[in-house]
Amino acid sequence: MARVNRQAVGVFDSGLGGLTVFKALARLMPEESLIYFGDTAHVPYGSKSPGAIARFSSTIAIFLAKRGIKLLVVACNTSSAWALPAIRKAVKIPVIGVIEPGARAAVRVSRGGRIGIIGTEATVKSGAYVKAIKTIKKGARTESAACPLFVPLVEEGWWNGGIVDAVTRKYLAPLKRARVDTLILGCTHYPYLKPVLARVMGPRVRLIDSAEEIARKTYGVLSELGLRAPRGRRGRREFYASDAPERFKRLARRMLGPGVTRVHAHPFD
Ligand code: DGL
Repeated sequence: MARVNRQAVGVFDSGLGGLTVFKALARLMPEESLIYFGDTAHVPYGSKSPGAIARFSSTIAIFLAKRGIKLLVVACNTSSAWALPAIRKAVKIPVIGVIEPGARAAVRVSRGGRIGIIGTEATVKSGAYVKAIKTIKKGARTESAACPLFVPLVEEGWWNGGIVDAVTRKYLAPLKRARVDTLILGCTHYPYLKPVLARVMGPRVRLIDSAEEIARKTYGVLSELGLRAPRGRRGRREFYASDAPERFKRLARRMLGPGVTRVHAHPFD
């Protein structure tokens, strides 16, 4: 008989970005309970030092582990690039990062092996995507660009419009010049801007939104470990923000719909 486990899956990010992963998880596995933590007190992570990123990330992981989660999804590329060892040291549950699934998807769909990567300053500086891509496909060519203004735009609720367009054109120009055939959205905030990104890159460039990949990977790990929730009943959803929970709630509802009824405040100590 298959084993089942009703404990929740924990998901965290610096802010709204990880909700793109949360949405994909909820769509693929509606029966799983999900607890989300948005570190709105410290967003953006992308301009922080590796030490600070590791400290914030492991504090959140410990908080979620104390809430009884069975698995943690680090729905933040910046934390995945810099903080996985610290998180894995801090908690004893399985931890899934976002870089490897995105790199794998990009190599799979790229026709010419010319892969662009956009992400936060810290993610690009880490070289984590380039390393993951070259491990999977040695001969792949990569071109990376940091896009530091995208996260504040998304957190502000500016997901389209003239200013987003102008910033996008400027950031993506080197990638267009490099003629990448695939573009990894290497920050979980960027899928909010997907229509603009797609328009600027043009129809021949495949965009990799790793949310779906991560959801599939999470499904695989839960199944493998015998940790899936019983089917039939919808799982519960719980939200925490480390600052301004009402503001977070307003924007989270725009993303996920009216199902976000309450966001708990959980200030850092
Ligand atoms: N959404 C996060 C990421 O995937 C963090 C962005 C930030 O806070 O700078 O990298």
